Amino acid sequence: MEEIAKALVAPGKGIWAADASPKTIIKRFKDVGIDADETTNTRFRKVLFDTEGLENYISGVILYEETLKNEILRNILVSKSILRGVKVDKGAIDLENFPGEKISEGLDGLRERLTEYKSLGAQFTKWRAVITIGKDMPSDVCIGLNVESLARFTALSQEIGLVPIVEPEVLMDGKHDIVRSEEVTKKTLKTLFGELKEHRVNLHGMLLKPNFVHHGKDCPKKVSDEEIAQKTLEVLKATVPNEVPGIVFLSGGDSSIEATKHVNRMNEIGGVPWQIAFSFERALEGPAMEVWQCKDENTKKAQDELLKRAKMNSLARTGGYNEEMENE
Ligand code: G3H
Repeated sequence: MEEIAKALVAPGKGIWAADASPKTIIKRFKDVGIDADETTNTRFRKVLFDTEGLENYISGVILYEETLKNEILRNILVSKSILRGVKVDKGAIDLENFPGEKISEGLDGLRERLTEYKSLGAQFTKWRAVITIGKDMPSDVCIGLNVESLARFTALSQEIGLVPIVEPEVLMDGKHDIVRSEEVTKKTLKTLFGELKEHRVNLHGMLLKPNFVHHGKDCPKKVSDEEIAQKTLEVLKATVPNEVPGIVFLSGGDSSIEATKHVNRMNEIGGVPWQIAFSFERALEGPAMEVWQCKDENTKKAQDELLKRAKMNSLARTGGYNEEMENE
């Protein structure tokens, strides 16, 4: 497990989160003008998985259960020696008595599902918990319940021999400023690692997938890339134990270029014990989806877009990216 965790954050590589639920992916297609049906996602995945050279930048792909169960799609990744992961939470539902807050479900029967995923060749897993910032939010109950679920997910994944990617996402939605994001992210991560310790998990055999410390989407006071990188690193240094091999960021609604810039800047600053990598969904596959438009004649263009984002993020792993490269 420790070897798989290290391989996922190998130098120059990162993870592609291709694990949007059927409901979410239909929305994403709609947003870029694609009139999707139930076959669209499989077609999209096939086009992108076939991208030549993807394995040079992408160590692993997180799949939705349905995609993991699709032998053709799964085997494309196997043939490229790309590691296969699976999202195992069943999504975030409303938290009773706490309007506006969410709890992720999926622990019931998880041990059996994990065993099945392993038999299908999965090597790692992901569980996403959602923390919302707002008036009187997040509550201690929301943070407490979500980190407890994350800890059980982590322990169960490790029991089965799967590397857990632990994702406590503090959402960017809202008017809050970066200081509030810093405070909430710090509290969430502190609570999370306290709980992981209590649950006796192996910190060497997991990855953390956090948000960037970032101003809210609707905050009038936008901050610089520099401040985002600095504050994110400060929070991580204060909360994440050295044993964790890697931090793989989610993009959370940032544009592709912004997300790449944050990872790049953090790697330039350096001085941290963990690998700083990426596990983006929108920031990696978003541009490809836009140009694809569900048309066969756009296959190559979509693959080029994905490869470009993968390559830019790979460069960001060493701090070797700059925005001018986008136009080369
Ligand atoms: O769970 C969320 C995804 O794994 C990451 O998605 O990069 O679009 O925020 P994102």
